[in-house]
Amino acid sequence: MENKQILCVGLVVLDIINVVDKYPEEDEDSRCLSQRWQRGGNASNSCTVLSLLGAPCAFMGSLAPGHVADFLVADFRRRGVDVSQVAWQSRGETPCSCCIVNNSNGSRTIVLYDTNLPDVSATDFAKVDLTRFKWIHIEGRNAAEQVKMLQRIEQHNAQQPLAQRIRVSVEVEKTREELFQLFGYGDVVFVSKDVAKYLGFGSAEEALKGLYGRVRKGATLICAWAEQGASALGPDGKLLHSDAFPPPRVVDTLGAGDTFNAAVIFSLAQGKSVQEALRFGCQVAGKKCGLQGYDGIV
Ligand code: ADP
Ligand code: FRU
Repeated sequence: MENKQILCVGLVVLDIINVVDKYPEEDEDSRCLSQRWQRGGNASNSCTVLSLLGAPCAFMGSLAPGHVADFLVADFRRRGVDVSQVAWQSRGETPCSCCIVNNSNGSRTIVLYDTNLPDVSATDFAKVDLTRFKWIHIEGRNAAEQVKMLQRIEQHNAQQPLAQRIRVSVEVEKTREELFQLFGYGDVVFVSKDVAKYLGFGSAEEALKGLYGRVRKGATLICAWAEQGASALGPDGKLLHSDAFPPPRVVDTLGAGDTFNAAVIFSLAQGKSVQEALRFGCQVAGKKCGLQGYDGIV
């Protein structure tokens, strides 16, 4: 019973990462410091971090059979992430991203080839045995379908005693209007700096105050803001904040937000307070920014 998993639903993609010491000029022919293939995608990265933190976790997302998927599945397994919920698609390609990580300031430039691979549907999700999970995190993508998934979890929870209820978090990271309906679901909503800025807010605090009216009663809204750390607002109306924990040198911010989300979820799932979770999220994300990839974050 106590070994229930955390399920992350969302994207997995192959990140082809070039680490450079200087961002290239257009049409330049240059050499990079190193190159690697890395499993990416927000939900997938969050699974990596949850696993490194020691939480049993599972990934649910789409893959198309082939070499890229073989690499990604092997990497999930290497990290101890359960892939039994993966939705194997018979059409479309597994997506790839071309990433340039600037080793001198940690900036990451991503060109995502988001292919025609169908996303996980509510029908796929209906087959999932919810009793295996203590927490389900949904990365906003195909929002209309994801609303149905979230409603299924709500119905499931309504029939459970309090202690057995699945806690739910939702990430609204991309600036697509379709995703904004997801604010109304989950116990915890992560809104990105990009979405906050797109909606006209100049800081995490402004965004939290301006967007709190959109979340479900009792929910906590969380907004991370890169080197400024992260803030949260819950039902008691108290704004909480944690400063960032800058590493000695910022070398790779790819997946910093996914790391932050995972560490916050890990902490809250362990019964910690929102203030403690914010701090832990910033600590782990800060550590990640000082390392290429995820090895060494704990
Ligand atoms: P992303 O852009 O990857 O979605 P953010 O930039 O909002 O994510 O960062 C998430 C968290 O990662 C921040 O709250 C902070 O704790 C940490 N972080 C990000 N960039 C830095 C940085 N340059 N220095 C220290 N911590 C950082
Ligand atoms: C980082 C990331 C990368 C991926 C891209 C997809 O947050 O998940 O791993 O290439 O974003 O948008």
